[in-house]
Amino acid sequence: MTETASALTRLRDLPGPRGLPLVGVLHRLRFDRLHLTLEEWADRYGPLFRINMGPHPIAVVSDSAAIQRILVQRPQGFRRTRRLESVAVEMGLRGVFAAEGEDWRRQRRIVTAALNRHKLADFFPKLALIAARLQHRWEEAADRGDPVDVCSDLMRFTVDVTMQLAFGVDANTLETPGPVIQRHLDKVFPVLHRRTNAPFTYWRWFRLPSDRALDRALEAIRREVGGMVRAARERMAADPDREPADFLEAIMAAAADEGSGISDADIFANAGTLLLAGEDTTANSIAWAMHYFTLHPELFGRARDEVDSVIAPAAAVEGLEQANRLPFLDAFCNEVMRLKPVAPMHVAEPLEDTEMLGCLIPRGTPIMMLLRHAATRDEHFADGERFDPERWIAPPETRPNPHDRRVFLPFGGGPRLCPGRALALLEIRTVLAMLCRNFDLEPATPREQVQEHLAFTMLPAGLKVRLKRRMAG
Ligand code: HEM
Repeated sequence: MTETASALTRLRDLPGPRGLPLVGVLHRLRFDRLHLTLEEWADRYGPLFRINMGPHPIAVVSDSAAIQRILVQRPQGFRRTRRLESVAVEMGLRGVFAAEGEDWRRQRRIVTAALNRHKLADFFPKLALIAARLQHRWEEAADRGDPVDVCSDLMRFTVDVTMQLAFGVDANTLETPGPVIQRHLDKVFPVLHRRTNAPFTYWRWFRLPSDRALDRALEAIRREVGGMVRAARERMAADPDREPADFLEAIMAAAADEGSGISDADIFANAGTLLLAGEDTTANSIAWAMHYFTLHPELFGRARDEVDSVIAPAAAVEGLEQANRLPFLDAFCNEVMRLKPVAPMHVAEPLEDTEMLGCLIPRGTPIMMLLRHAATRDEHFADGERFDPERWIAPPETRPNPHDRRVFLPFGGGPRLCPGRALALLEIRTVLAMLCRNFDLEPATPREQVQEHLAFTMLPAGLKVRLKRRMAG
């Protein structure tokens, strides 16, 4: 700490909204709009304020330097919350996202290696095949004239991609009629979000219908993952000398090393983590991009011109090299992720008492970090609330300034930066290029009905889009 503890403001003396005894501000919060309420309060109470959710004080920070410090000083100075860890353990999901310390380091190495860029180059043909299936699904919807529930279709796409890349399984939920694994995965994030923010651990005493639905969903996911683990074991037993081909094989090979400390539970937890971490995040990011395309047809036209100039007519993106030659599309996606990051806030706790913006934050206090708030302030990005992809490609002398990339953190930051980032960006480019190349789109719901809804990740609730096959010419 830089100042003596007595000179520092105490947490309870920080400004913040008034609450009631015991419940604090709970009666003023809706969990699905938590980020929006906290952002409004940040405007009113400043870069560091206090709220009570239930009896416990929580610090809320939107100062970009303080946020950077927290992200970078993990895992030794800060950690994800103990509540998140205990909830994840109960669900059998203490994989790399929820692990801490040495456990985290071990798991992180394996996950990062399985998702690295070299793997992506080899994987690209399979990704292109899955994108072609999505195109086919959308062509059928276009021919029927049905509005497309974008998030739901995109989650089929992202789960198919993760299962193929990480588990070596062609799940093909895009071409499977009826119920698919997504209906179980869908139950996890909303409950995880509610339980990590709930002031009382009520579900340990009584179970609501949604808690019982979650138990059933987790059981179904365990069965599904169990099948994939068995299949990977058989593949490895049949050819024990070859290099692991995917994440499951890699983590099982590591677990087989004496003293690895990796248990069967870790294998399950990480398989479940990857399925969940790669599903909503990427699908919702693409969905937000499609929403902005409907709001700005002229930008859709510009993205299409760029895609047409890089990809042969009627073809799809053919490889990483082409996917990397779409600067306007990338700028468009950056702007979408700046204004609609699917993780607009994160939570951490300090491992020791710490000083932050002149305040003493006691060890173990949850600190909510408002990442989106910082990235939309005029002091970091000129005219920060305005959607303007140009700012990402204009040369520094002509672009609107300030343009402070350090506060643009859609994938988090520091040692726990999202390891799926390169895969996610490739998925986003591939789907949006396919969309531009083959479809015209218009909104099927009025824009004011598309709302931010936080359920661990932030999705565009109510978004439906009408697709038409692209007119020739
Ligand atoms: C647009 C899509 C995505 C976004 C916006 C996103 C965002 C994030 C964020 C904000 C974090 C927390 C980082 C931090 O604590 O600093 C995270 C962690 C993580 N993400 Fe992603 N993610 C995306 C896609 C993916 C994909 C496709 C995968 C893998 C299939 C993935 C796997 C993970 C994992 C395993 C972690 C935990 C890392 C750790 O704790 O060390 N993510 N992601």
